[in-house]
Amino acid sequence: MLLNLTILPGDGIGPEVTEQAVLVLQAVADGFGHQLQLQHKNIGGAALAVAEDPLPADTVQACLSSSAVLMGAVGNPAFDHYPNHLRPEAGLLGLRRELGAYANLRPATCFPALEDCSPLRPERVRGTDMMIVRELLGGLYFGEPRSIAGTSSGSRVATNTMTYGEPAIERIARVAFELAGKRRRKVLSVDKANVLECSRLWREVVIRCAKEYPDVHISHMYVDSAAMSLVQRPKDFDVILTENMFGDILSDQAGGVVGSLGLLASASIGGAVGLYEPVHGSAPDIAGKGIANPLGAILSVALMMRHSFQLEHEALCIESAVSMVLDRGCRTADLARAGESSIATSAMGCQVVEAVKAVNARQKSA
Ligand code: IPM
Ligand code: MG
Repeated sequence: MLLNLTILPGDGIGPEVTEQAVLVLQAVADGFGHQLQLQHKNIGGAALAVAEDPLPADTVQACLSSSAVLMGAVGNPAFDHYPNHLRPEAGLLGLRRELGAYANLRPATCFPALEDCSPLRPERVRGTDMMIVRELLGGLYFGEPRSIAGTSSGSRVATNTMTYGEPAIERIARVAFELAGKRRRKVLSVDKANVLECSRLWREVVIRCAKEYPDVHISHMYVDSAAMSLVQRPKDFDVILTENMFGDILSDQAGGVVGSLGLLASASIGGAVGLYEPVHGSAPDIAGKGIANPLGAILSVALMMRHSFQLEHEALCIESAVSMVLDRGCRTADLARAGESSIATSAMGCQVVEAVKAVNARQKSA
């Protein structure tokens, strides 16, 4: 198969982790007989630095004409004082919209080798395997009007708008129900229906939609209570369906629960072209030091294989390779506990490449 991809390294640790993810991608392509065609483009602060635009037209063009997009991260404090539409983050939000990527899948699982990395007791976190399904093109992130405006009294007032239409709720709910059908058949819809109109409509539409999936169990929780349960009993969660902002917050929390945000991968799908990126962001404090965890980016490649190319064996090969490397005790700094030694970003990437080859060879001889 020809895998025609656009690579967007972006900012901070984005380029470092993306480089390792591409090496793993290459190993998988070689092992399974696929051909890679890659083009690299700028996004976020990296694009602002050369084009004064966080999402240059040729980046959008390249993404739309490829079969999938792999991104590193966006965000750079150097641009914090820029107006919203010129911040690095605007590049990513614009790209999600251009691609029509309304469904953000964020799996969070506890790798057996990492039970001790979680701030929770091992018996609490052991067996955790959840999938956050975050609506990605609605809510506060995109709602109009939005502004920071002066008032007659001289003080300013800021406005954001949360809006959700029924079709937007219904299509993301369907993604969650379909996914749950292939997992443990449980969807928890997270909202704030005791306060927000958006959430009341959300809950109504989800309940209506659930009737079409009688074999999936549906339940509902307010977001504050869900946040608490996520740390108290993470293994009870299967599919978590939620709106854009709640999903942003709960997915970082899920990263903390399973030991490190650096492990979390994501797929943004539903539109013309899928976008795959680690959840961790640009982490400017450790950028350029070669210590970032590339596993979130590498596991994002697995999601790409699965969701953009229906290459399940390739996806599983990457996921088993990551498990193997962790079982062997390889740890980047974020995963190392006090007294444990850690390896560099590139060394971790290298270990996964070798493990991919080993898994592949084993599958071929089986
Ligand atoms: C994420 C990030 C982004 C978001 C930022 C970088 C715009 O936090 O993907 O979770 O808020 O969606
Ligand atoms: Mg986030």
